[in-house]
Amino acid sequence: TSRSHVKIVEVGPRDGLQNEKSIIPTEVKVELIDKLGTTGLKVIESGSFVSPKWVPQMAGTADVLLQIKRNPGVRYPVLVPNVKGLDTLVDLLERHPPPAGSSEPPLTDEIAVFIAASESFSKANLNCSIGESIDRLVPVVRLARFKGLRVRGYVSTVITCPYEGPIAPEKVRDVAKALHQLGCYEISLGDTVGTGTPITVENMLNAVTSVVPVEKLAAHMHDTYGMGVVNSLIAVKSGIRTVDSSVAGLGGCPYSPGATGNVATEDIVHALHGAGYTTGVDLEGLAEIGGWISSQLGRPNSSRVGQALLAK
Ligand code: HMG
Ligand code: MG
Repeated sequence: TSRSHVKIVEVGPRDGLQNEKSIIPTEVKVELIDKLGTTGLKVIESGSFVSPKWVPQMAGTADVLLQIKRNPGVRYPVLVPNVKGLDTLVDLLERHPPPAGSSEPPLTDEIAVFIAASESFSKANLNCSIGESIDRLVPVVRLARFKGLRVRGYVSTVITCPYEGPIAPEKVRDVAKALHQLGCYEISLGDTVGTGTPITVENMLNAVTSVVPVEKLAAHMHDTYGMGVVNSLIAVKSGIRTVDSSVAGLGGCPYSPGATGNVATEDIVHALHGAGYTTGVDLEGLAEIGGWISSQLGRPNSSRVGQALLAK
């Protein structure tokens, strides 16, 4: 792919919805993913196989995977925290293979695993230390790859931890390197709290790119402080060509009190197109979907670009 193309990873159906208090009907989740699958997006994170006691909203992910209309050109990764989650997914995949002789894709071909750069966030999100979380991923990545699944890795709290405050770039560098060595094909750097600024993001990226090739990195910027677009663009300026975002800016993290959604997909696509990058994404279509899902959830549309386009 050319250097002027940026891959958008749409995380709205997972990161965007996981923090909603009332359980969203499976039909709405499925309709959201199906609509997003027609916009030119190539990756739509569709749910997670985590403990339903920890994140009740994602308990229906198996049903979502079974019901979506998969677009053959789109990947539908899901989050997996441990071997138990992966076993559940693998069992689902084996019980529902594509019909023999068909060219249909499997339910999914990719998982995402996640660790943190902060000890207290690791404890809050995964109930273990950073070291333990990395050890626990060894069998997860091995089994996933044995089953033919690609593995993406996330690092949370790359700028600030909601409990500990600022995180040293060297911490982020070390855990990103660990995910790379485990065999993650891509490592997404999460500003979970959204406090990053162009300078702190750049400092963090300088540390990480000294040990992980920039082609393997992605930016995952939450927009709590309104810095999501500029921080994502700083990442692109540093050579990153994969940006995570959420339609209508949906979301918040259950273990990061007060954190709002990811950078809105509409906003970052508008900014990238304006800078001469291609994304392959139909911005107007996306804005329609952002308006639709916001009204389904009874929330204001958090995308400024989406609001502007819908007002036209
Ligand atoms: P634990 O309580 O220490 O787990 O949680 P455990 O192994 O002791 O098991 C406790 C119970 O959970 C048992 O059930 C297990 O079977 C069950 P019981 O015997 O009590 O009935 N269990 C599971 N059930 C379903 N699926 C599973 C699973 N695993 C155990 N996979 C655990 C440890 C990792 C499970 C828990 O902490 C957890 O699920 N954490 C996930 C939290 C989460 O999903 N956070 C949001 C996603 S990460 C994020 O948003 C950040 C990101 O966007 C980047 C950024 O912005 O920074 C990616
Ligand atoms: Mg996130």
